[in-house]
Amino acid sequence: MKLGVLGKRLLCASNFVRQDAYLADIGTDHAYLPLFLLDAGRIVGAVCSDINSAPLESAKRNAALYGHAEKIKFVLADGAGALADMGITDYTVCGMGGELIADIIERAPQLKSGDVRLILQPMTKHAHLRRYLAAAGFSVLAEAYSKDAGKFYVTVVAEYDGRQREISNLEAELGKIEKNKISAEQAGFIKARVASLKRAALGKGAGGDDSYEASVLREYEKVVGEIEV
Ligand SMILES: C[S@@+](CC[C@H](N)C(=O)[O-])C[C@H]1O[C@@H](n2cnc3c(N)ncnc32)[C@H](O)[C@@H]1O
Repeated sequence: MKLGVLGKRLLCASNFVRQDAYLADIGTDHAYLPLFLLDAGRIVGAVCSDINSAPLESAKRNAALYGHAEKIKFVLADGAGALADMGITDYTVCGMGGELIADIIERAPQLKSGDVRLILQPMTKHAHLRRYLAAAGFSVLAEAYSKDAGKFYVTVVAEYDGRQREISNLEAELGKIEKNKISAEQAGFIKARVASLKRAALGKGAGGDDSYEASVLREYEKVVGEIEV
């Protein structure tokens, strides 16, 4: 397996998998992420899981092609619940909607452990996922942004500590914004999301100023002030 096979989006997620982790990749499809980490000697083994058999077969073919089949268990399953008691330390759930990722976490009680790390890459409904994590007692250890094929992505790294939190609508929509620490990729992500919120507010016509989107944008203006994104 060559480094170039992994795009920047999955490379960003891979950075947060801990050294010597036993990784479960939920919704693995092609299994590129675990294969890359096995190739780099970063993980001791992996469980590749998918709800559909065609992607799981593709994962099996790639594992054989790159010589890592013996270090991978393949599981056909909905979500992560079936993987309890397998000794998994890190879970990646990438390339799905935020609602589905939240649902997968909620249905897998073994993820509510301070020893387990979650590395999540929602494609949509980021706000739903962040609100879910906060309300369910997961703390966000890090967020990182990447640009792949012209699109911006966020990776959310979370761990259970049992403390339920409330987060602002702004944080739910755009994540933590720390002045002077905004990477070009985070700026690109924010810009795209702000444009989408503006379109949604405008689409609501005369009532747009009272909309949820407009209130998030006002909060955003207050917080970021002069930040150019
Ligand atoms: C778009 S692919 C993402 C593949 C890879 N994780 C990535 O980020 O490039 C989504 C995969 O998730 C799988 N999937 C969807 N719902 C799932 C669920 N509830 N449990 C497990 N896998 C699921 C699909 O079959 C598909 O292979």
